Amino acid sequence: MKDIKLHDKNFEIYIPETEIEEIVSSVATAINNSGIENPLFITVLNGAFLFAADIMRKITIPNTEISFIKLASYEGTKSTGTVNELIGLNQDLKNKNIIILEDIIDTGNTLVKLTEMMKNKEISSLKIATLLFKPEAYTKEIPIDFIGKSIPNKFVVGYGLDYDEIGRNLPHIYKLKN
Ligand code: IMP
Ligand code: MG
Repeated sequence: MKDIKLHDKNFEIYIPETEIEEIVSSVATAINNSGIENPLFITVLNGAFLFAADIMRKITIPNTEISFIKLASYEGTKSTGTVNELIGLNQDLKNKNIIILEDIIDTGNTLVKLTEMMKNKEISSLKIATLLFKPEAYTKEIPIDFIGKSIPNKFVVGYGLDYDEIGRNLPHIYKLKN
């Protein structure tokens, strides 16, 4: 399949749309079978918007809720190490069974920030679900409960993931070409 160019970089296809659908279905099935009741999904914008939209339609748990927060830590193809809160959480999380929805977990800095945001909120439980995970880049101890696919430490775009804000609309996931 065709390579694409975004800004100054070339990308080649890595996870085709059909495989993404299978991955999303497998995460949905795992969540549906986990025994979690009345979940509140918290989607991390911008990257996870397509993942959230697709997985929500496959969740069959009664009284499922969804909300959104916006965080940013990436510049270009690298993590900056600081996580900025662009849209925060303004609702009551007390007694909620929260499932965080991430597009990709890389260093884990964003995850640490998210778990700090959940502290002192008297939540009932916290689980993490991510479409993609880069185990070689992950430096934290927080367990990740639902992983769609583990990938090597390569920069990827498409299906919500961006390279300096573009590429989110691509239906397939692409990786940086060397
Ligand atoms: P972390 O804080 O280093 O774990 O990075 C998490 C966030 O950085 C993700 O939610 C993405 O928004 C972004 N990110 C990490 N890796 C990639 C990538 O390969 N492509 C695009 N965005 C990425
Ligand atoms: Mg993100």
